[in-house]
Amino acid sequence: MPDAPHCNSDAVDYVIKSYRGCETVMRNPETFTVDDPRFTTGVIVGESMLSTDGPRHTHHRVPWATLLRSHETRRRATESIDHLAGKLVHGIAGLTTRTADLRTSLTGPLAVGVMNEILGLGADPTDLWDWYQHIVAGVTALTEHGDVPESAVDAMRRLSHAVDAADLRAGNQTRGEVASNAAVVLFGGIETVDGSIANLFWHLLTNPTAYEDCLARPSALDGAIEESLRLEPAASRVDRYATEATTVDGMEISRGALVVASIRDANRDPTVFADPDRFDPFRANASRHLAFARGPHACIGPHLARAEARAGFDAVTQRLGRVELISTSPPVGVVFRKPEELVVRWS
Ligand code: HEM
Repeated sequence: MPDAPHCNSDAVDYVIKSYRGCETVMRNPETFTVDDPRFTTGVIVGESMLSTDGPRHTHHRVPWATLLRSHETRRRATESIDHLAGKLVHGIAGLTTRTADLRTSLTGPLAVGVMNEILGLGADPTDLWDWYQHIVAGVTALTEHGDVPESAVDAMRRLSHAVDAADLRAGNQTRGEVASNAAVVLFGGIETVDGSIANLFWHLLTNPTAYEDCLARPSALDGAIEESLRLEPAASRVDRYATEATTVDGMEISRGALVVASIRDANRDPTVFADPDRFDPFRANASRHLAFARGPHACIGPHLARAEARAGFDAVTQRLGRVELISTSPPVGVVFRKPEELVVRWS
């Protein structure tokens, strides 16, 4: 879950756009750290894996990475992803207008519902979505104006209560640490999954040949998922702070500078990806993309993200058949990128 954008453009000191440069930034926490007071998410959700490096980071991250990779979580995830995707598309199929915005009726609710299930929170999905919106708005307000709205503090309090009520545990973490990391895991798996499924549909529905390939051959979908993550990584950048003066991509970076690793640019680096702006579901090296980051903070949920994208696409295809885009926009956003709407029609 990357941090909110630093909206004051003066604050962005360096933007790294090359594939190798981004890898360097993400793989070297001694030189490029997240552990800085300017990292605003930490102020709202508390210290977590996202805002620490070194041994503190290991303490926060390992129990959650282990939990998500465990056989039991994978089993629960597979069941709930297929079940929820089927249920949501069943609801869509009942609409007499034969049109639906897949963002609001599928990609968002699927992402929220799956995280709710996997963590066993048992929260009302509408509440979870609401807390999420308030916490994200809080991080943005803090970045822009320097103050934390009461609504964000209240949302974090309610989420902590839900985590307590579910008796969620993680290694030897305190209850406060469990709540902070649960917030990071939840929200890491909501915004980005919503965006990545929406971006997949957008790429396929605006590339008729690729769409036909995926309808005809399920194996083509795996390539399309990777290629969509490459071209429009739902989290387009990550922020770090230089702990010493250094050089990346020939740029001299001063100590303390904010360094943005632009994943979206790296994924279009022509020295790694030929004809980089073209959507090609058969691109041999698409999965080299950096959408899930690299290094110690690399995403802990790629398997879930991929499974949700596949389940979303399969459910729509099985239940609605071929769909047609009738209103959309290309993916937009400074950090989290997705189409604002994805209205489709079916016959
Ligand atoms: C397509 C969907 C996803 C994308 C594009 C994505 C992207 C990312 C990226 C770029 C980072 C690195 C952040 C940084 O270095 O500052 C990250 C970290 C993280 N992601 Fe994901 N993610 C996705 C899905 C998920 C899911 C499903 C989960 C949870 C189940 C999740 C949980 C996390 C967590 C907890 C971290 C922080 C890891 C750490 O700081 O050690 N993500 N993700």
